[in-house]
Amino acid sequence: MSQSFQLKPASYSLAKEFNVQVDPRAVITGYEPGHHAVPPKDDGYVFNRGRLRDMLAFWEAGLIGLKLQGDPSTGKSSLPEQFHARLNWPLYKVSCTPTTEAYQLLGQLVPGLDGRLAWTDGPVLRAAREGSSVLLDEGNVMEPGQATSMNLLLDGYCITIPETGEIVTPKPGFRVFWTENPVDSRLVVAGRNVQDAPFEDRWMVMSVDYLPADEEIRVVKNALLKVGTDPNKAELTAKLVVGVANQTRQAYRNRDKVIVSPMSTRSAIRWAKLIRRFQNVKAEEGGPTIYALRRGVSMSPEQRDAVEEYTRAAVGTAP
Ligand SMILES: Nc1ncnc2c1ncn2[C@@H]1O[C@H](COP(=O)(O)OP(=O)(O)O)[C@@H](O)[C@H]1O
Ligand SMILES: [Mg+2]
Repeated sequence: MSQSFQLKPASYSLAKEFNVQVDPRAVITGYEPGHHAVPPKDDGYVFNRGRLRDMLAFWEAGLIGLKLQGDPSTGKSSLPEQFHARLNWPLYKVSCTPTTEAYQLLGQLVPGLDGRLAWTDGPVLRAAREGSSVLLDEGNVMEPGQATSMNLLLDGYCITIPETGEIVTPKPGFRVFWTENPVDSRLVVAGRNVQDAPFEDRWMVMSVDYLPADEEIRVVKNALLKVGTDPNKAELTAKLVVGVANQTRQAYRNRDKVIVSPMSTRSAIRWAKLIRRFQNVKAEEGGPTIYALRRGVSMSPEQRDAVEEYTRAAVGTAP
């Protein structure tokens, strides 16, 4: 059985929780802390204004499904995660695989200690029952036929559990988030499926691109500050890696023959952390920045050469 969901509503200030410049009186309803499925808060997370606007529109319009599309590591999964963390709103998460099946989303009969079969809700049905949220991460690796098992719930209709005859009506507040790398992405994202048209029709769609440079610099800097880096050094390193990352993304968009994968925020953060750790590496070994790049970011040998060039040029011009 699903755990009972009896949290007290609580009011949160948009300006304070999301660190954005809005009317200080603007509030949003969440819950008092306490539910086990509330994601942990990342204090270094930066809410981009445009993304937050889309998210709030989805949330307040009473819609059920939000699809976040974009290249790897643009920030698709962390947005719903951190949004829920700020509101103390439960978010069940499913890491989808090609073998994820409908029963893993909705539920199944499971033998109890007494040997008798008892119904256990899957994360999607549990969220519908509770009026909470579920995130289907990398949803489009799933077979289309499995995903369509959610169609009725995505429309807000009740469903009958065939095994028990129980009728479950989605409670207000039920929401489904779906992240995906588009099937037509230039990146090698293997095994993405085109979902069927009626399923696709059920979602609000949000396209997530890399953060603007100033915001990404704040993200990388926050990650460095968290591991104890001096603020001035954190700022310089963040500017350097974000500058090079954006050069790779630009080259990728210009269909450069060598730059075939744009540097992700995740890689940029890892690279920045390693630069700070490898401060003593000598110039013969590449120096801290190149040495850290070779270990922090995985790339083809041709792309590596090009990105090392960008990096040398950027280090050379750094103040
Ligand atoms: N706005 C942001 N603020 C802070 N960190 C971010 C932000 N966007 C992305 N990140 C970080 O970048 C990495 C990739 O983000 P994620 O949401 O997992 O990307 P995706 O789901 O698109 O692959 C994570 O480590 C995440 O914490
Ligand atoms: Mg993700």
